[in-house]
Amino acid sequence: MTTLAEQLRMPNLQSNQEKQEYLEALFRREVPFPLIQGGMGVGISDVGLVNAMEDVGWLGTYAASAPGAEICAWPKPLPSSPEARSQLLDQANRDTVCRDLSEIRERHPHRIVAANIMEILLHYRSTREAILADPNRPDILVVGAGVPRELAERMAQPDCRDIKYVIIASSRVAVELVVRNAQKKGGRLPDGVYYENPLYAGGHLGLRRMAEMEQPELFDPETVIGQIRDVLPGKPVWYGGGVGYRDQIAYARTIADGVVEGIRPALTDASGIRNDVICDVYLNENIGVVTDESSPTHFPARRMDTPVTQRTQDYIRQAMQRCVGCVKRETCEFLKKAGDPDDIHYCIADELTRLRFGEPELHPPRGVFFTGSLTPTIRRDALYQRDDAPYVPTVQEMTDFMLTHDAPPDVQGLRAAQVSQESC
Ligand SMILES: Cc1cc2nc3c(=O)[nH]c(=O)nc-3n(C[C@H](O)[C@H](O)[C@H](O)COP(=O)(O)O)c2cc1C
Repeated sequence: MTTLAEQLRMPNLQSNQEKQEYLEALFRREVPFPLIQGGMGVGISDVGLVNAMEDVGWLGTYAASAPGAEICAWPKPLPSSPEARSQLLDQANRDTVCRDLSEIRERHPHRIVAANIMEILLHYRSTREAILADPNRPDILVVGAGVPRELAERMAQPDCRDIKYVIIASSRVAVELVVRNAQKKGGRLPDGVYYENPLYAGGHLGLRRMAEMEQPELFDPETVIGQIRDVLPGKPVWYGGGVGYRDQIAYARTIADGVVEGIRPALTDASGIRNDVICDVYLNENIGVVTDESSPTHFPARRMDTPVTQRTQDYIRQAMQRCVGCVKRETCEFLKKAGDPDDIHYCIADELTRLRFGEPELHPPRGVFFTGSLTPTIRRDALYQRDDAPYVPTVQEMTDFMLTHDAPPDVQGLRAAQVSQESC
């Protein structure tokens, strides 16, 4: 009998043909999905994290949402024209994708790799096209944060035949929209759906308003996944959000084909988050988790409960002068409300590039640090302490720990009480 750890590890594939056959078998639901590391931008699931996850048998997801954002990290100079700044980011995204995919393929020529991209971004389409045209392109494109209306038509083109696409959805309605749209336009139906549970997942959530979370029964995984299966019969459904322990994984696998993890991989020494940020912010027991509507994307988002960079007049002026148009202009709440000193929205390009490529404020911490609901629970694990000090584990240490430990009873995440010990 194979152990849970063995079942959750991608096999060693020796050729492109073996890889393609395995990919097809995964999406026909004939073989179990390995553990899936979710896409995390900006630059958190970068080449380093994806390669490290793939090394230990996970299916890694490269974050292709503004991958070239390093060009706009403060205090790098930027052109004065908004169009020139936007074009600069567009080009940097395409160059970075090309460089990073080649690095991933060099190390893992025959492994299944995914890339994640958010539809809400201004450069979504050109980055997506750069990915699709790349000789080292990933095997799975995972699209979230918005309903990708013309994606089904694009994926029906002959050059996309051997790439799978998965849509991220937090309800049946979102899946129905995509399916109806695909059917109307003669597009290709999604190959799978990732049900990301907004009650627990990290970063932006697939909700219109926070108030929707007041009805947790709407997000019951078994119910929603059942509804998604009715809309897209026979297609694999992944589950993610609040899963970080063995019993939760075993339970999630009874209701879904694949299990996605965000915050666990993010809190390792291979992720794009610096070790000092992990120790001072994420493992700091004095900092809780908050879900609010201060992201300019209009999606509620979950983050560490730290004050965001202060919205002074100087800050607003500077952010506008450096705006690269990352989020579509008609959507960006920071731009729309720039004249209102009491508004709460932050400049997401500034906040996320500061965290990844700049000097985040750590004493005391200030800024936007996306997280999942599990953080206050998992940081009590022995995994994150060595010699009475906070410790950032390797991907292998994290995987070994997670697959041998069950969730504490007060876990801030998926409840897995229904799982029998044999399935672990
Ligand atoms: C720091 C962080 C950044 C994230 N960034 C993205 C992103 O850019 N795109 C996306 O689709 N999901 C993003 N997510 C969501 C994860 O891919 C994943 O779906 C989710 O975190 C799973 O929940 P968990 O963190 O409880 O495991 C992010 C999550 C975290 C923790």
